[in-house]
Amino acid sequence: MDVADAGRYKKWGAKTAASCGRIYNVYLLRRENMYKSEENWRMIDEYFIEQLVKEDEILLEVKKSAVMNNVPSHEVVANQGKFLSVIAQMINAKRILEFGTLAGYSTIWFARAVGLSGHVITLEINKNYAKLARENFKKAKVSEIIELIEGPALQSAQKLVNFNVEPFDLIFIDADKPNNPNYLEYAIKLIRPGGVVICDNVVRNGEICNPDSQDDRVYGVRKFITDMALNPLISATALQTVGLKGWDGFTIAVIKK
Ligand SMILES: C[S@@+](CC[C@H](N)C(=O)[O-])C[C@H]1O[C@@H](n2cnc3c(N)ncnc32)[C@H](O)[C@@H]1O
Repeated sequence: MDVADAGRYKKWGAKTAASCGRIYNVYLLRRENMYKSEENWRMIDEYFIEQLVKEDEILLEVKKSAVMNNVPSHEVVANQGKFLSVIAQMINAKRILEFGTLAGYSTIWFARAVGLSGHVITLEINKNYAKLARENFKKAKVSEIIELIEGPALQSAQKLVNFNVEPFDLIFIDADKPNNPNYLEYAIKLIRPGGVVICDNVVRNGEICNPDSQDDRVYGVRKFITDMALNPLISATALQTVGLKGWDGFTIAVIKK
C-alpha cells in the first residue's frame, strides 16, 4: 500500500500502515461481498484462499488497481484463479488464449502457470481496461509472456485464425456472455487436439434454468451449452460453485478434433 492510499484508508479510521492494509483488505472483501453470497460460503472461500492459494501482494494490487479505477469487480476469485493455474499446469499448457482481460487478474495467473517459455494471448474490447491490464502485467513482471489484443474479441479471434497461429493448449472464455457460442466456434478452430476449453459464469445465480429469463447472457450461455452437447468432438461437463462471489459455475471441456 503506498502513502497516498494509506491516506485514503486512514480517513476510514486506520492509525498505522498495518491497520490501513487491514482496512483495505476489508474493503476488497466488502467489494466482493457485493455479490449475493452466504456468510459461510465466503468463510470457506477465505479459508481455502488463505491455506492453499496464498494470493500475493501483486495479485492484491491488481484487484486494488481495479477498485481505484472504477473497474467492475468481475475478475475470478483467488481460489478459482489458482484452479485455472492448476489446470494449465496439469496439461503442461504453454499457449493460452483468454477472451476477456479486465484488469488482467486471471491473465497473470495464466502467465505464471505457463512460465517464461509460454505465451498468453488475451482479448479485451475496453481500451481503459486494456491500459490498466498492461500496467498490471508490468508490475507482475509478466509483460513478456502476455500479448493483449485490443478490440472486439470476435475480430481479434478471426485475425488469429487468418494468421494461422500455433494452436492453443487452453482457452478461457470470460468476456460478453451473449457471444459465448461464437467464442466456442473460435475456440474449436484455435485449440490443439486434446486441448482444454473453460468457460466462466454459466450458472448465473441459477438463471440458466429459469425458463422465463429474458437475459441475453442467459441465452448465450444456454446456446453455448447446447452447442457443446451436440458436438461429437467435445467432451464437457459443468460444475456449480458457491463462495465469495455467490452462486455460479464453469464448464470444462476437452476438444478431441
Ligand atoms: C468477466 S471480465 C474478465 C475477467 C478476467 N478474465 C479475470 O478473471 O480477471 C469480462 C471482460 O470482457 C470484456 N469484454 C466484453 N465484451 C467484449 C468483447 N466483445 N470483446 C472483448 N472483450 C470483451 C470486458 O470489457 C471485461 O473486461
